[in-house]
Amino acid sequence: MIFARIAGTGSCLPGDPVSNDDLVARGIDTSDQWIVERTGIRTRHLAPADVGSSDLACTASRRALEAAGVGPDDIDLIVVATSTPDCIFPSTAALLQSKLGMKSGAAAFDVQAVCSGFIYGLTVAEKFIRSGSHRRALVVGAEVFSRILDWSDRGTCVLFGDGAGAVVLEAAEAPGILSTALHADGSHHPILCVPGNVAGGQVIGDPFLRMDGQAVFKFAVKVLGEVALEVVEQAGIRVADIDWLIPHQANIRILQATAKRLGIDMDRVVTTVDRHGNTSAASIPLALDLAIRDGRIRPGQRIILEGVGGGFTWGAALLQY
Ligand code: UT7
Repeated sequence: MIFARIAGTGSCLPGDPVSNDDLVARGIDTSDQWIVERTGIRTRHLAPADVGSSDLACTASRRALEAAGVGPDDIDLIVVATSTPDCIFPSTAALLQSKLGMKSGAAAFDVQAVCSGFIYGLTVAEKFIRSGSHRRALVVGAEVFSRILDWSDRGTCVLFGDGAGAVVLEAAEAPGILSTALHADGSHHPILCVPGNVAGGQVIGDPFLRMDGQAVFKFAVKVLGEVALEVVEQAGIRVADIDWLIPHQANIRILQATAKRLGIDMDRVVTTVDRHGNTSAASIPLALDLAIRDGRIRPGQRIILEGVGGGFTWGAALLQY
């Protein structure tokens, strides 16, 4: 039987951290106190205008390849999760392949599941590997959400940041990824969306992120609790057997409420939202890479990765590192 295991991780954050006070200094009608109390966010990173998702993905990918001890041409599948691609087409995955200088003809495509995108991408790549069709995948979450924020809407613009995280997922004789679950309910699309599109050479409709924060909050806590239990039950283990929970990093209060529902102590939850803000599809692989590199996550430990985002979409992956 073929399994899929994470062989290396990497991440990338553009530039210096931008503090809440820096946003106030830029004229946003907010305060450090409000942002910290309501969200737990203290800083985020914002990419300069000439840096796109594929650039952040490229740096994160090089670091993941190095950690895995393989080169770009050892990869036969690239999956990039992003809602902020460099352009309408080609895919960010194809641009990433070019930036990595790959010549092997590896398959490359994007998945679009907003903040659940990395979980979707990881699950798709795992199934390719377990089928035997592919041996080694690069799975990346990369975003420049700062490009789709309405900087006059203080209810959203303070929440998000830019960044990328990447993993090398490869075929193995033992797991690896123990179980996965993906879900969507498109009927909730109006509560978190960027409704605009491009037609006839113009942006048609609203090109900015719009959100009903409280509706998203309630939905996120509910499904993050449910889907974590689903992957644990699927693997035939108990929540008590989990070493680390890595939820999508949107709001510290969502993370705390999810951990409480699951009976997991906050000491076992990896949190980066204070430093990174919400980096959408990048938040989970960024947090995973951080906790592996700082030595918290050790070989043999069990980790739940879980995300929720626009669509609505949600999902989880349980893995043994
Ligand atoms: O990846 C998934 C994406 N998003 C999320 O997961 C976000 C989920 N939702 C949330 O995190 C929270 O709902 C928010 C952080 C977005 C908002 O927190 P809240 O506790 O739900 O606040 P609220 O929207 O009910 O607003 C409370 C007050 C309002 O003032 P009034 O009407 O009570 O006078 C807002 O105008 O806070 C005001 N407010 C702000 N004040 C200072 C909203 N944004 C800000 C701000 N600074 N940035």
